[in-house]
Amino acid sequence: MTQQTFPLTRPRRMRKQLWQRELIAETLLTKNDFVYPLFIMDQDKGTETIASLPNLYRLGRYDLLKECEEVTKLGIKAIAIFPRTPQEKKDRDGTEATNPKNLVCSAVRAVREQFPELGVICDVALDPYTSHGHDGVLIEGQVHNDVTLERLVAQAITLAESGCEMVAPSDMMDGRIRAIREALEAKNFSDVCILSYAAKYASAFYGPFREAVGSQGSLQGASKATYQMDFRNSDEALSEVGMDIAEGADCVMVKPALAYLDIIAKIKQTFKVPTFAYQVSGEYAMIHAAAKEGMLPLEKTMMESLVSIKRAGADAIFSYYAKEAAKILAA
Ligand code: PBG
Repeated sequence: MTQQTFPLTRPRRMRKQLWQRELIAETLLTKNDFVYPLFIMDQDKGTETIASLPNLYRLGRYDLLKECEEVTKLGIKAIAIFPRTPQEKKDRDGTEATNPKNLVCSAVRAVREQFPELGVICDVALDPYTSHGHDGVLIEGQVHNDVTLERLVAQAITLAESGCEMVAPSDMMDGRIRAIREALEAKNFSDVCILSYAAKYASAFYGPFREAVGSQGSLQGASKATYQMDFRNSDEALSEVGMDIAEGADCVMVKPALAYLDIIAKIKQTFKVPTFAYQVSGEYAMIHAAAKEGMLPLEKTMMESLVSIKRAGADAIFSYYAKEAAKILAA
C-alpha cells in the first residue's frame, strides 16, 4: 500500500459531521451484550444499600423478581446472581453452597419460572459460603485444590438441578472445568453451558463486591493470589484459556475488564471462542466516585469504558451499568 501524506490525507474530513462518524463507527454496543449482576439476600421483601456500590442493592426475594421484570423490559438478556449468605450459614467448607434450598438455588427456580426467557448465570465458587472468604476449602491455611474440586462439582450439579443453564466457575482451581463438565454429562445436563472465568486476576478491583456478598471481612489464611492470576502475566492467561477450552468450557471470561483489554484482545484473536469480560465492582465504583466528585461525567465515562471493552473483542460484558447503559442505548 502506498502511503499518502498530508494534505492529500486528512482523517479529519471523515470526522466532520455526525452522519459520517456514525457511518464508519466500527464498534456497536447493544443491550444484547450485557449480563447484569445482582446481589440477593435472605429476606422476602426489601432492599439494602451497598456502601461502595452506589445505586446497587441487595435484593429480597420479591425485589429480585421486580428487578428481573425491569431488566427484561429493558431487553437485557441475562443476569448473574450473587448471594449474601447469612453469617450463621457459613462454615469452613462452604457446605451451604450445595444446599438445594440455598439463596441462589431458590432464586434461580423462582426466576426461571417467572422469566423463562431470561438467562440466569451462576458462579461456581465457595467464597459466598465459607467462613474464611476463600473460593475453596482451606486446609492448614492453604486452599486445597483437589478437595475443592469435589465441592465445586457438587455445587455445579446443585445449580443445574435448580434450573441454571450456565454455570460460571470463578474459583480458579486447576482442573475444575473437566471435573464439572464430566459430572454434568454424567447427570444428563449435557446442555448446561460452562462459562469459565479462565483469566481471572488477583485484583484490587474486587473490593466492593466482597462488601456486597460479605466475604471481605472474613478473608483469612492464604492470599487469593495463590489461585487467581498475577496481573503481570498475559501468556499465562492464554494458557489458562487453552486448558479450559480443552476441558470443555463453552465460553471464557476475562476479569477485570478495563485494565485487561490487551488480554481480552489476545484471547479473542487466538481462540475465537465466545469471550466475556467482567467490568467488576471496583471499575463501577471508581467511575461513580469520580463522577460524584465532579471529576468525570458519569454517562460518557461509563459508555466509553463499555465500548472499549467491546472493541477489545469481548462478545458480552458483565456490568453493573447494564441497566443504565441499556436505557441510553434505547434512547
Ligand atoms: C468470587 C467472585 C468475585 C467476583 C465475582 N465472583 C470476587 C473474588 O474473587 O474475590 C468479583 C466481581 C466484582 O468485583 O464485581 N469468586
